[in-house]
Amino acid sequence: MKKVGIIGVGEYLPKKILTNADLEKMVDTSDEWITTRTGIKERRIASSQEATSDLATNAAKEALKDARLKPQDLDLIIIATITPDMQFPSTACLVQANLGAKNAVCFDISAACAGFVYAIIVAQQFIARGTYKNALVVGTEVLSSITDWEDRSTCVLFGDGAGAAVLSEVKSGGILSTYFGSDGSMANLLMMPAGGSRNPTTHKTIDKRLHYIKMEGNEIFKSAVKIMVDTAQIALKQAGLKCSDVDLVIPHQANVRIIMAMAKRLGLPSDRVFLNIEKYGNMSSASTATALCEAVKVGRIKKGDIILLDAFGAGLVWGACLIKW
Ligand code: ACO
Repeated sequence: MKKVGIIGVGEYLPKKILTNADLEKMVDTSDEWITTRTGIKERRIASSQEATSDLATNAAKEALKDARLKPQDLDLIIIATITPDMQFPSTACLVQANLGAKNAVCFDISAACAGFVYAIIVAQQFIARGTYKNALVVGTEVLSSITDWEDRSTCVLFGDGAGAAVLSEVKSGGILSTYFGSDGSMANLLMMPAGGSRNPTTHKTIDKRLHYIKMEGNEIFKSAVKIMVDTAQIALKQAGLKCSDVDLVIPHQANVRIIMAMAKRLGLPSDRVFLNIEKYGNMSSASTATALCEAVKVGRIKKGDIILLDAFGAGLVWGACLIKW
């Protein structure tokens, strides 16, 4: 088996910023409530010209440049998203066409907020076995397109963005261990009920606002901390490492209270946890992806550091990836 590592990262955030003050004018909420309950101050919103594949393409171009590869060098493109441009074709095929990555096999993964970690784990299998050489994975979302802007319990949480990584064989370091899991018995806690084969789009489904994110936030909160802690511990155990060996955790950015409770239970000081939730809110699969990219860009990740990606989301699904940078 070959060693697999991340050789380039990139991100793209739409220009439009929606602040908590802006939301105060849209629904019955306050900056104080949003900040103390979630840690979010503002989020990005895609323009009407920008779809999920456009965000992904921009992030991918930056990651390819960082990896010093050309689009034609890619053998595999995996896009993690719950807001594809359309039901089909896959957003991965649209990104392939945008990039001119004509040698790549392309498909999407639907694993909500854990999607980027899922995509890394899947890509790693192909490279480790020598099936493919270079893979592009992107976490990309336009969650604003499925957010109910009249529902204060969800609309304050989400934002749009994309983060990308290029995976390839590396001589040293790379991915040390991975772990992922799922529990479909909790699928009802977080979903978009209509628009699929269960509830095809009708005037009725639109009138009932079923094409938006529906979430039992409280119920998810109860499971989230335990899931993230267990997931981290399993990945660490598989690599024969302890939490104290980790230089930086890149957690899914759903709620700063979930992240800090996880850090406390793992015995991690807060300066070893990377946050970007304040600027972007929860961008589902794009959260861990952009956080990884930004941690690299600001010098929080250096060669030889041990990094832990740890995410959970709708499904429920969860996943962790331990990497020596
Ligand atoms: N502004 C003001 N008040 C609000 C708002 C708001 N935006 N939203 C809810 N409230 C009110 C509620 O109506 C409730 O009022 P009541 O007590 O009079 O009934 C009160 O605030 C408390 O509401 P809770 O839902 O209990 O608030 P909580 O502290 O649980 O925070 C939150 C809600 C932020 C959603 C939290 O539960 C959470 O973060 N859950 C996890 C979300 C998550 O991790 N999702 C998974 C990933 S997303 C994905 O996979 C796509």
